[in-house]
Amino acid sequence: MRNGSSSFDVAIIGGGAIGLSIGLRAAQRGLRVVVLERGEPGRGTSWVAAGMLAPVAEARLVEQSLLELSLAAAAGYPRFVEQLRATSGADPGYLSCSTLFVARDRDEAEALERELELRRGLGLAVERLRASAARVLEPALTPSLRLALEVHGDHAIDPRKLTAALTAALARAGGELRAGAAVEGVETDSSGRVEGVGLAGGELVPAAQVVIAAGAWAGGLGGIPEGARVPIHAVKGQILRLRDPSGPGLLSRVVRIAGGYIVPRGDGRYVLGATMEERGFDTTVTAGAVFELLREAIELVPGASELVIDELCAGLRPTTPDNAPAIGPGALPGLHWAVGHHRNGILLAPITAELVLAGLLGEEPPPLAERFLPTRFTGVAAGV
Ligand code: GLY
Repeated sequence: MRNGSSSFDVAIIGGGAIGLSIGLRAAQRGLRVVVLERGEPGRGTSWVAAGMLAPVAEARLVEQSLLELSLAAAAGYPRFVEQLRATSGADPGYLSCSTLFVARDRDEAEALERELELRRGLGLAVERLRASAARVLEPALTPSLRLALEVHGDHAIDPRKLTAALTAALARAGGELRAGAAVEGVETDSSGRVEGVGLAGGELVPAAQVVIAAGAWAGGLGGIPEGARVPIHAVKGQILRLRDPSGPGLLSRVVRIAGGYIVPRGDGRYVLGATMEERGFDTTVTAGAVFELLREAIELVPGASELVIDELCAGLRPTTPDNAPAIGPGALPGLHWAVGHHRNGILLAPITAELVLAGLLGEEPPPLAERFLPTRFTGVAAGV
C-alpha cells in the first residue's frame, strides 16, 4: 500500500451530514482531519433525507434511551444551526415551523390522543386542536379532518443546505475533504491498531484514529475482523420532492399522517415521504410507492394535486439490529463508529459529533451515550 500523504489525527470515512459534522467538530478542536467521501459530499442518504427534527415521533418507535438522546439533540439544534451559520457563512436551511399531526378517522384520532398523553408526560409543548382550528392554521388541509395536534418543538432543516454549510465550515476550520475517494477498508499495524484508511487504487491515508460514518455502506468496508464489526443493513425510503409553481403558502408546517409526512421548505418546495422497505441496496423508485404517497398526501391536502414533481428518489437508512445508532469507539483500537442512525441521522448528526469527539479525545462518554456504544455489538477493545 502506497503512503499518499502526511499523517492525520483522524480520518473520517463518509461525507454525509454525520461525517461532515464530526470532521467539523474535530477540526475546530485543533485535530488534523480528513473526510473521505467516495462521491460528492452530502450526496448519499443525506441528499434524500427529508430533514424532520422530530425527536419523539421518530425515536420512540425504538426505546426510551434513544428518545432521551433525540430530545437532547433537538434541544441543542437551534444553537448548532446558529454556530454553523456563523462559521460557514452559509444558510443551513433551518425552518422553525412546528409540526401538525392529523387524524381523519376514529382510529387515527385515538392514536393522536395517545401521542398527546405521551408528549404531555414528557413535558413537551403540544396543543390539541379541533379540525376547524387546525384548518385555520393550515387552510389547505381537507375539510374531512377529525383532530390534530400541534407540536411546537418539532421543526425541519433542508439536509442539502445543511451539508453544503457543513462542507464550507469544515474547509474554513482547516479540515480536508477528499471527494471521489473510494475507501477499500481500514488499515491496521502488526499490533492490530488502526493506522489509516486504504483507498481503491492502493493509496494509504495514514491516520492515528479512524471514524466510520459511511451509513448503509459501512458493512462493506474491509480490514475489520468479524468480531469487531457493527452489523448494518439498509432500510429503503422512497420520497418525492414537489414544488408549487405559484410559490410558498400551501403548507407552512410539517404535516404528519400515519406512516408519512409532508415537509415544507418555506419557499414553495415540499418533501413527501416515505416508504420503509427491506430491499438491500435497491434505490429504484416504484409506481406503487409513488401512487400511495401521493394518494395519502392529496387526500389530506387536496391542493397538493397541483404541485409539480421535481424529483423521485430513494435513500438507504443505515440500521443496526436494535434500530439504535452505534456511536463511539469499538473493538479495534483506534477505530470509532458513527453509524446506524436509521430515521434520525439529520437530527442526531450534531450530538453524534460531540460524542465521537469525546471518544477521539479519550474522554469518558456521558452516561447518556453508554447505551449507544458500538461495543454492544463488537466487544470491548483492550485499553479502551
Ligand atoms: N426521518 C424520516 C424518514 O426516515 O423517513
